[in-house]
Amino acid sequence: PKRATAEEAVLGYLENHDDIPDSHLFADQAKLNHDDIANAIKSLTGHRYVDSQEITKETWLLTEEGKTYAVHGTPEVRLFLSIPQQGITKDELQKKFDASVFKIACAQAAKNKWVDFGKQLVTRKIQHVDNDKVQTLLLRIQDAKEIQDISQDDIKALTKRKLISLQVKKGFSVRRGLNYAPQRKKVATDLTRDMLQSGDWKDLEYKDFNLNAKGAPTERVFKAIFLNDIAEAESANFQVRKQLKDIFLQMGFGEMPTNNYVESSFWNFDALFQPQQHPARDSHDTFFLKVPSTTKELPEDYVERVKRIHESGGHQSRGYGYDWKREEADKNLLRTHTTAVSSRMLYKLAQDCAQKPFTPKKYFSIDRVFRNEAVDRTHLAEFHQIEGLICDRGLTLGDLIGVLQDFFSRLGMSDLKFKPAYNPYTEPSMEIFGYHKGFGKYVEIGNSGMFRPEMLLPMGLPEDVSVIAWGLSLERPTMILYGIDNIRDLFGHKVDLGLIKKNPICRIGLESD
Ligand code: PHE
Repeated sequence: PKRATAEEAVLGYLENHDDIPDSHLFADQAKLNHDDIANAIKSLTGHRYVDSQEITKETWLLTEEGKTYAVHGTPEVRLFLSIPQQGITKDELQKKFDASVFKIACAQAAKNKWVDFGKQLVTRKIQHVDNDKVQTLLLRIQDAKEIQDISQDDIKALTKRKLISLQVKKGFSVRRGLNYAPQRKKVATDLTRDMLQSGDWKDLEYKDFNLNAKGAPTERVFKAIFLNDIAEAESANFQVRKQLKDIFLQMGFGEMPTNNYVESSFWNFDALFQPQQHPARDSHDTFFLKVPSTTKELPEDYVERVKRIHESGGHQSRGYGYDWKREEADKNLLRTHTTAVSSRMLYKLAQDCAQKPFTPKKYFSIDRVFRNEAVDRTHLAEFHQIEGLICDRGLTLGDLIGVLQDFFSRLGMSDLKFKPAYNPYTEPSMEIFGYHKGFGKYVEIGNSGMFRPEMLLPMGLPEDVSVIAWGLSLERPTMILYGIDNIRDLFGHKVDLGLIKKNPICRIGLESD
């Protein structure tokens, strides 16, 4: 309605006038808000009812300080007038003014050489000050809002004293346009049955459709009851997980069964040639189970071979040379990495090899792991790991690097670097770094290596079979790809459902920026 009134005013005025030279003046005269006038002009210009040109208008205005001087006179003049012929002590003089005004008054009066600030008395240096020149200037500017007949020096001085300031206003000058009409034509928004039947449709003008307009966001209905489940199912994490699963499937990987959060130390550590004194096996790093505290069964002959390789080696290894304890291996824990899943899978594969010839395998898993860590913006006590492995004859580190390149570029991270690392179960081992455009640097995205013979041979895999493998947390690429800097925004009870709804379905593969 405001815009309609403004529009009517503009079109109506142009019916009997050639132009509107200044939209600000026009708004003032029509007693309309200039923003409404400006919006109407823009819209009318778009439809060529009018032609308009942007103009800028400079107005000089008094500042609050300037306004008080215009009314009461400047502090320096008031100070001068307060000094009697015979002089006055500074204390007496000061009593007549506010502290801040007094300061300004003294400074200006001294500058003008009007007043002598003696040790005992403040006295007049000149007989009288005719008029308050600054006040006069201010009054003129206040009335005219212009500075045409005021000298540059005066303007400079007033500006410097912050008594006046320049306001630049953008406005329009307007004249009739190609499609000018004193009133905007009504445009049809819909084609109706009536218009078709009456034939009106031929003469009507139609409102353009905006085919680029985005639809209103749809409200989602959450079926789940627990916030954590809702959050997770809808989360960026979930989207990335789905995408990763597709990548693995496209690359010909089969999924490993991961449905056991509770694992024995044996499969989580010992089978992976991780010594029993290793710091990761401390309760500071690992959640051990109270009930049931130990595992029910392990493959005894394999346990025996694992014990031997830890204690005294074999297969050209010297082992660690310590007393391997079954009680340690039996302890139940929440798995600390999905490499526990890989160790079970490889053991099973080795058992198959006893019956039928070895065939190459590619496996992956994506599931939850647990670490007893202090929770902060990049660490949670539970998170998800992605694990991939390839098992074949004659594999080299080159194969591993090639597979990683392929895998991560499908994820949108194609610029990788590798750094030698150490894992008890792989040799060589490499940390994986990916270049992140947004951060402008390489960030750690995973860990990888070739499983050691000390892990593979006790399982019973053929001697010439190698396994290349890598692992990473799901949260890491999700955070990088979605630009989330606090892991708690992503997973767990503090997930922001608003963020989840707003995030695009999947940004992966776009080489994040
Ligand atoms: N298990 C390792 C981790 O938790 C990742 C990894 C998997 C490393 C496979 C090498 C090979 O970080």
